[in-house]
Amino acid sequence: MVVPDIDQDRIPAHVACVMDGNGRWAQARGLARTEGHSAGEKALIETLDGALELGIKYFSVYAFSTENWRRPVEEVRFLLNFNVGILDRNRDYLHSRGVRIRFAGRRDWRVPKRLAKKMDEAVNLTAMNRTMTLTICFNYGGRAEIIDAVKALVDSGITSDKINERAISSHLYYPDMPDPDLVIRTSGEYRISNFLLWELAYSELVFTDILWPDFRQKHLFDAIREYQSRVRRFGGVDQ
Ligand code: IPE
Ligand code: IPE
Ligand code: MG
Repeated sequence: MVVPDIDQDRIPAHVACVMDGNGRWAQARGLARTEGHSAGEKALIETLDGALELGIKYFSVYAFSTENWRRPVEEVRFLLNFNVGILDRNRDYLHSRGVRIRFAGRRDWRVPKRLAKKMDEAVNLTAMNRTMTLTICFNYGGRAEIIDAVKALVDSGITSDKINERAISSHLYYPDMPDPDLVIRTSGEYRISNFLLWELAYSELVFTDILWPDFRQKHLFDAIREYQSRVRRFGGVDQ
């Protein structure tokens, strides 16, 4: 799809998104915080449709952080069930659009069996798709990912002289995933909150005041235009 003022030759290969502001969206309407999470589903599917139209190959979303267990037990329970529902409702559609679904994060005892089963089903169903890879970061923490990589390296018996960026990158959850070119965070918060810490070393960051349930394709397109206006130097100098 041709979108005005978006250069089709410079579409980011990987866009990652911190979907934030659901609770505030609900509270502003006198609703329970959980209503904000529910309203975020439409934002997610519309954003993915937009990303598919643009031909973005990798899209990652922060769905639940390793710190989100600190929330009230009812909200945590809602989020766990909600993620089961999201997969039930959208798995076949995403499959029909050629989306490969993957999950990044720890599968620890707190992740209910029912959800783990749904995750596996979605992964297996969509494993051969290549139009886009959707990585859902669930019970994900950037520090946890680095810790897990270091553990795997130690277990492999590596000696310290062999530890370099490539060794660490190749032990992250998805070594084939390119680093995000663009990270979008909604809701007017200017922080990373433990998202993809290793991978976003040179990502362009775009922050928007839009609350996640209000996020739509046009906001994604705005973020891509902003991204395309940036000069990426990677520590070098402009040519
Ligand atoms: C993001 O919205 C969703 C999750 C963290 C699961 P929040 O629930 O953090 O919404 P705010 O930031 O409190 O408004
Ligand atoms: C980040 O949002 C995590 C997700 C969007 C899943 P939070 O709302 O948890 O982040 P903080 O607490 O404001 O930093
Ligand atoms: Mg938040």
